[in-house]
Amino acid sequence: MERRSWAEPYKIKMVEPIRITTRAEREAAITEAGFNTFLLKSEDVYIDLLTDSGTSAMSDAQWGALMMGDESYAGSRSFYHLVDAVRDVYGYEELIPTHQGRGAEHILSQILIKPGDVIPGNMYFTTTRFHQEYAGGTFADVIIEEAHLPASTHPFKGNVDLEKLRALIDGPDRIPYLSLETNVNMAGGQPVSMQNLRETYELCRTHGILVMLDATRAVENAYFIQQREAGYETTSIAEILREICSYSDGATVSSKKDNLVNIGGFLALRDPDLARKARALLVAFEGLHTYGGMSGRDMEALATGIREMVATDDHVRARVGQVEYLGNRILKMGVPIVQPIGGHGVFIDAAMTLMHLDQELFPAQALAAAIYRDSGVRGMERGIVSAGRDPADGSNRRPQLELVRLTLPRRVYTQAHMDVVAESVGAVWEDRDSVRGLRFTYEPDELRFFQARFEEV
Ligand code: F0G
Repeated sequence: MERRSWAEPYKIKMVEPIRITTRAEREAAITEAGFNTFLLKSEDVYIDLLTDSGTSAMSDAQWGALMMGDESYAGSRSFYHLVDAVRDVYGYEELIPTHQGRGAEHILSQILIKPGDVIPGNMYFTTTRFHQEYAGGTFADVIIEEAHLPASTHPFKGNVDLEKLRALIDGPDRIPYLSLETNVNMAGGQPVSMQNLRETYELCRTHGILVMLDATRAVENAYFIQQREAGYETTSIAEILREICSYSDGATVSSKKDNLVNIGGFLALRDPDLARKARALLVAFEGLHTYGGMSGRDMEALATGIREMVATDDHVRARVGQVEYLGNRILKMGVPIVQPIGGHGVFIDAAMTLMHLDQELFPAQALAAAIYRDSGVRGMERGIVSAGRDPADGSNRRPQLELVRLTLPRRVYTQAHMDVVAESVGAVWEDRDSVRGLRFTYEPDELRFFQARFEEV
């Protein structure tokens, strides 16, 4: 008999009960939430795939580390443990701790962007682009075309299109840095190849443009490089991660993902002068330079999580393996999803699923609500609502990708939970023609997807 099964490299020591609701309860809950899954109460959710952000289960070592946190206002021992962990694992010398990823994005944008600047990036992320625009800059998308095509099976859909980047460099605008995201979230958790990282860094360096990684999901990117890129088959995840970071001048990280903690983040830099500028803003917006936005215990658990995420390759293999398990089950039912299956979630192509709905009727928002109604599984819209309005003319940005994201928390759910999710997606798919479009009843000005409310059309 062939033996190909594998299982998670951990066992469960503590459990948290979750409740299965009735269909009537879910109908009432989603209506009350204005058809926005962000506005549901978690108690009304059965399996929560809203996000992989801050939802991971910590290890016994991390819970132990919490007890060792040094809560000194200045010079906390836990801060120095964090500095050591970031230096050892990512290879950056200068650490600016923040309360979460967007705190780091804020500071980076403020120290590098001047009004009128253009910041190229491999697809936008909501908070990243917000901070670039807030600092007076304009985001320019330089990701390869395949990233916008859900069915394209390009192995590195996160790659930078070097021709698009060159055209921008040859243009009239000042470019302070390239914002380079690993395992691109909005593209469906799609990786950048090492070759592309290397070539992009070379091109930027010759033009005096810094490369700033969004290394939030760099470990998942490292895994795909190991699986897909020639020459890396036997290289460890830890080594691949170090090499990824070597092609950059710094990074912002939301520690709520790869780093296996529930809150935290950092800006890491190589240039001490730039780090000094960042620290000057840090003390105004986040906290003193030896804690930023975190408590001592947060920093201690984070330092432990950073080492744990690369201590064995089995961790990330099981993490991405679970996503692939769910994705393959959904794919087998004929449901259109972003391919290849991503690192942190399964992204359903809502435009192809609800072909009877125009994009202005918010198909992904409606599909996420329909899945919740069916089973209490909570996903998230990643389409026209998330894309927001163009600041220049106020029109809806119409992204090519209109997706529902089913995002997997790390080390939280079992394969049986994944089976329940897949069956629910299948049931909604069978009944897709009955899903109605939505219209706004409340639309916030900024990052509208978080708090917008809708009604059925
Ligand atoms: N960069 C990426 C690629 C992210 O996915 C996120 C957050 C951030 C930056 C911001 O970090 O939340 O710690 O302030 N993504 C979450 C998500 C919200 O659900 O995808 P944060």
